[in-house]
Amino acid sequence: MRGSLKPPGDKSMSHRALIFGLLCIGRTHIEGLLEGEDVLHTAAACRALGAKVERLAPGQWTVWGAGLGSLLAPRDTLDFGNAGTGSRLMMGVVGGHGIFARFDGDSSLRKRPMRRILDPLTLMGANVVSEAPGGCCPIELAGTNEPSPITYQTPVASAQIKSAVLLAGLNSPGSTTVIEQEASRDHTEKMLLHFGAEVQSEAYGKHGRKIILKGRPKLMPAEVIIPADPSSAAFPLVAALIVPESEIIIEAMMMNPLRTGLLTTLCEMGADIEVLDRRIEGGEEVADLRVRASALRGVDVPAARAPSMIDEYPILAVAAAFAEGETRMRGLHELRVKESDRLAAVAEGLRQAGVEVAIEGDDLIVQGQAGLVRGGGLVETHLDHRIAMSFLCLGLAAEAPMAVDDDRMIMTSFPGFRALMENLGARFS
Ligand code: S3P
Repeated sequence: MRGSLKPPGDKSMSHRALIFGLLCIGRTHIEGLLEGEDVLHTAAACRALGAKVERLAPGQWTVWGAGLGSLLAPRDTLDFGNAGTGSRLMMGVVGGHGIFARFDGDSSLRKRPMRRILDPLTLMGANVVSEAPGGCCPIELAGTNEPSPITYQTPVASAQIKSAVLLAGLNSPGSTTVIEQEASRDHTEKMLLHFGAEVQSEAYGKHGRKIILKGRPKLMPAEVIIPADPSSAAFPLVAALIVPESEIIIEAMMMNPLRTGLLTTLCEMGADIEVLDRRIEGGEEVADLRVRASALRGVDVPAARAPSMIDEYPILAVAAAFAEGETRMRGLHELRVKESDRLAAVAEGLRQAGVEVAIEGDDLIVQGQAGLVRGGGLVETHLDHRIAMSFLCLGLAAEAPMAVDDDRMIMTSFPGFRALMENLGARFS
């Protein structure tokens, strides 16, 4: 693997930039929007709620918002495809407005738990008109124009739950408080400030945060610059670590400390990653990374680190397969409710590749093969983009290439994945 690359724009920030654009009156300009299917579903939902959303050039989009308190009721079902983030954040928006909307998606999204969003929205006064068994999509939600100001402690560390409550709280006449025991990504809080809302965030307990949002702010349209997604950069990054003699440069990757748990872990494993030119771009810390092939060692990854690398465990498990010794990743219960049951999908994929792996409670334990992974086999991706990309990366460094049953889902988050990897030296067939 040789060369430099710029990964696509951050998915979390892309969803939020469109949604904040919808909630302002006037023109929001977005630079570096991820044009993956998940985000395009959010763009379509913003249109259905009254925004004019236009693509000016690759990655450059404008949103003419409908304005907080003035959203339209969508005529058709809001189809979010595979996108948990888009659907959950938009439930927050609808929950805080006196409109009715029906939410649905693909068979993966239909399995994902939505009660975690609907419960606080119900406390705020929204009404769940119907839901599929288990609190899943399709869901019909009637929001309220007067969301009650609540204090809500999230039951799991989840930026999606936090964001849904804050987005509903935007239209509340009072203040909304969210408490999280473990700090999750803070893009919503940062964007609230950027668009002119009054929001305070303070430490809570050992690892947590308390966020207080004053309702009914005058949101002002803004310019949003979206840096490269660390969760997408993770794939070429780990590929370069495990493919012998590799050296790549990843340009302008977002270095928000609530997103860099994978870097911390890989460095503990002995990865040769140089952080170059740390700087601020569009309000977020970014840096270029020089990554060289490395002999990795197994490590123990503490549960407290999970929120800062929640989407990176599948590719970390691939790195662990090439390391020397055992890697134990603790506290991964949330992986069971991602685009697939990622705990099961990762374990099954590693077994296909000849790697010894175990699940003990919520921990994943991978026996490293010290660089020699047999590979081969066919991995079931269960409509999960990160499972597909992780095992394709494993195949790059294994003795035999890996096959995945389906690569279409990669379009949800990383449309240029194949071309970008080929540019660095990968071969697909
Ligand atoms: C996201 C939060 C995380 C993450 C997801 C994106 C976000 O989910 O897995 O890919 O943008 O808020 P949880 O908040 O459910 O952990």
